[in-house]
Amino acid sequence: MRPPISPDSVKQLFTEARSHHHWSDQPVTPDTLRAIYELMKWGPTSVNSMPARLLFVQSAAEKEKLVPCVMGSNVEQIRTAPVTAIVAFDERFFAHSKKLFPAYDATELFANDARLSEATAFRNSSMQGAYMMFAARALGLDVCPMSGFDNALVDQSFFQGTTWKSNFLCTLGYGDESKLYPRGPRLSFDESCRIV
Ligand SMILES: Cc1cc2nc3c(=O)[nH]c(=O)nc-3n(C[C@H](O)[C@H](O)[C@H](O)COP(=O)(O)O)c2cc1C
Repeated sequence: MRPPISPDSVKQLFTEARSHHHWSDQPVTPDTLRAIYELMKWGPTSVNSMPARLLFVQSAAEKEKLVPCVMGSNVEQIRTAPVTAIVAFDERFFAHSKKLFPAYDATELFANDARLSEATAFRNSSMQGAYMMFAARALGLDVCPMSGFDNALVDQSFFQGTTWKSNFLCTLGYGDESKLYPRGPRLSFDESCRIV
């Protein structure tokens, strides 16, 4: 048994954490991006498959390559955020299965079943993207996940000739709290949950 984390940590991760659309000038260093990965990598994935791949877009030139792929107000958010992660998955993630789950080699299982490998890659990379967001929050950063973009164009612009495919985008940085709009409500427990 472990004690619950502190109320301040709960606030930082959940109740006071916001999706930020405006950013302070504070940069995000490569060491911080590594630190985020070193936390998120421990999140569970099915048969420890770890299909997520991350491309951290940081330079002005690479940001401009991303701009035509995104919609509406996301353009300005990408330009102004210190970093945008392209949360992707490797279609051939199971090339690492033997190493990652030595108790049972799932390589052939995935290699012979495209529907299973696609569902596994998408489900688990989505989860790993969420682990990334909460790892970033745990380290004091803010994030904004984004689905307002053209996946095919991102794949063509950044992953052509590879087995990586984009899942979602996520800006990372230190948010400007003064520009937050009032928080949206959430569904209650009774609206969202059943105990049977
Ligand atoms: C999968 C996903 C896609 C989203 N897409 C966008 C987007 O394209 N642009 C944007 O500005 N915000 C986007 N958001 C942010 C949501 O609008 C935001 O998380 C939600 O309104 C809750 O806001 P809060 O975290 O500040 O309470 C997205 C969030 C998620 C999880």
